[in-house]
Amino acid sequence: MKSISTFEEYKKEYQFSVEQPEQFWEAKAEQFTWKKKWDKVLEWNFSEPNVKWFLGGKMNITENCLDRHLKERGDQTAIIWEANDPNEASKKITYKELHSEVCRFANVLKSNGAKKGDRICIYMPMVPELAIAVLACARIGAIHSVVFGGFSFNSLADRIHDADCHMVITADGGFRGAKDIPLKSVVDEAIKTCPSVQKVIVLKRTKCDVIMQAGRDLWWHEEVKKVSDDCSAEIMDAEDMLFILYTSGSTGKPKGVVHSCGGYMVYTTYTFENVFQYKNNEVYWCTADVGWITGHSYLVYGPLLAGATTLMFEGIPTYPDAGRFWQVIDKHKVNIFYTAPTAIRSLEAMGLNFVKPYKLDSLRVLGSVGEPINVEAWNWYNANIGKNRCPIVDTWWQTETGGIMISPLAGITPTKPGFATLPLPGAQPVLVDEKGIELKGNNVEGRLCFEFPWPGMIRSTYNNHARCKEAYFSTYANLYFTGDGCRRDEDGYYRITGRVDDVIKVSGHLLGTAEIESAINEHPDIVESAVVGFPHDIKGWGIYAYVIQEHSRKDVEELKKEITATVNKFMGAIAKPDKIQIVSGLPKTRSGKIMRRILRKISEGEVNNLGDTSTLLDPGVVEEIVKGKV
Ligand code: WTA
Repeated sequence: MKSISTFEEYKKEYQFSVEQPEQFWEAKAEQFTWKKKWDKVLEWNFSEPNVKWFLGGKMNITENCLDRHLKERGDQTAIIWEANDPNEASKKITYKELHSEVCRFANVLKSNGAKKGDRICIYMPMVPELAIAVLACARIGAIHSVVFGGFSFNSLADRIHDADCHMVITADGGFRGAKDIPLKSVVDEAIKTCPSVQKVIVLKRTKCDVIMQAGRDLWWHEEVKKVSDDCSAEIMDAEDMLFILYTSGSTGKPKGVVHSCGGYMVYTTYTFENVFQYKNNEVYWCTADVGWITGHSYLVYGPLLAGATTLMFEGIPTYPDAGRFWQVIDKHKVNIFYTAPTAIRSLEAMGLNFVKPYKLDSLRVLGSVGEPINVEAWNWYNANIGKNRCPIVDTWWQTETGGIMISPLAGITPTKPGFATLPLPGAQPVLVDEKGIELKGNNVEGRLCFEFPWPGMIRSTYNNHARCKEAYFSTYANLYFTGDGCRRDEDGYYRITGRVDDVIKVSGHLLGTAEIESAINEHPDIVESAVVGFPHDIKGWGIYAYVIQEHSRKDVEELKKEITATVNKFMGAIAKPDKIQIVSGLPKTRSGKIMRRILRKISEGEVNNLGDTSTLLDPGVVEEIVKGKV
């Protein structure tokens, strides 16, 4: 499906994709294995919203990830796995072996009662069995909902509950750097409040002690012995649900973003092949965890659909030292490396001595994803990792878009540091002002929307279509609204300026301020809290929490520690506040709404530019907060 190899071809293909989108995507879709061809390419409106691609088409995504490749590349490595501990042997799994393991585990799911349409929660460390579990669900038409292993029991319970999962696939624990992360015990705690869960399948990884509940909990290694590796793929409609992935919103609990089978397959393959310009037999490494969309689309599905060799790493960039990424690149001769700006900035801060021992001469393409990459980090990445010879693709997209939307094509699109550059064929961005008036032409800055559907886009939010409409399609009529601010420069190049809503990108992880607040409020002494972001050198954005305590306690430091522990317990370590300020009141309007705009300005250090505070119930609190800023 790699169809573009020059900038001229890109422009032509882009033009065609806008003028004749259905013909454009139909030609891409024809290259897959379909059990039955579609009757109609597209049906859509953004008002309900209702988006359907390849209507009536029948297929199974795993046949396209696995079976389709067996003849030509059965013995090629599909997954290279690198353990957390550099002394533990890495693994190479061929397409043939992966096919067999996926089919076998699919039979385990079936023998334990799972069937098409069931939701299955996956809460696992970064081991090959995670990819196997994901694909096994897809094989039998069960809908996977992967939850990042860094979320705690409360977040896990919310997600299991919302999707009404009958089964959880987990491990005893996981290795991350010097730490062993307990997973099974977190699952045990979570499902106390989730009566829907009937079976828990547990992979043995860290060999830590776990409690296995008879009749409910089963060992992975015992279950796979009982079944064969022959499992035909369930026939799915192109629009059947493939997976749910939870993402944070401005308000309330996370939303279950729903993706469907056919469009997602076509879109992830097309974008993977063209953005990275993947060549046969290259080794591709995406450092994202499968718990996030980047891991779904560009560690598992996209690369496997394209018949690539995808590397999966269990550990963290700084273990055993800050040279680990570079060591792994040399060890496995990685050609394409895709990571997040936070990782780049934190490794930059550790100094070049961790980079120098490595050759990095296998690298051909570098990628960035998840948050704006600042020019300094871009230049460092380019000079010290890419040695000024590897194109950098700064890929902008979202959980909801399913795949990359705005990005250079490696080595084809002229790049500019800090710019995601140009929309991919099929992506039709528009910028609007706050009122929704389109900002035409170049040299404009506004809010990023899309005016036409693409095959990989969100279909719904699980069990709550109204929320999907409200969150993405109601702000501006007939537009999909991303929640991001964006500038289009004099050359028509796009630069993402960051979120314009109440979610924060912390180390590339999207966190809702409302969710963090409700975790903080679990502390018995906290009456109310308000969370905003502040610019952070390494993480991009840090978490700043303003809290009101019930009784004034003298030992403020102790209280702060307890708040941090509470967030850790109820949400996970990724949501721990970087700064906590105890306040006696929050700036509220007369109708009781917290004026976050003011809190944001204070946390960002812009205390002389707070704007109009006259509508506040008690303008005095602002002064107090400014004085006490941490
Ligand atoms: C941000 C991650 C700037 C953006 C794939 C978006 C980016 C949110 C970039 C989605 C980029 C992602 N430049 N910002 N290249 N890529 N973002 O759902 O704010 O975890 O809306 O998906 O990340 O985050 P999500």
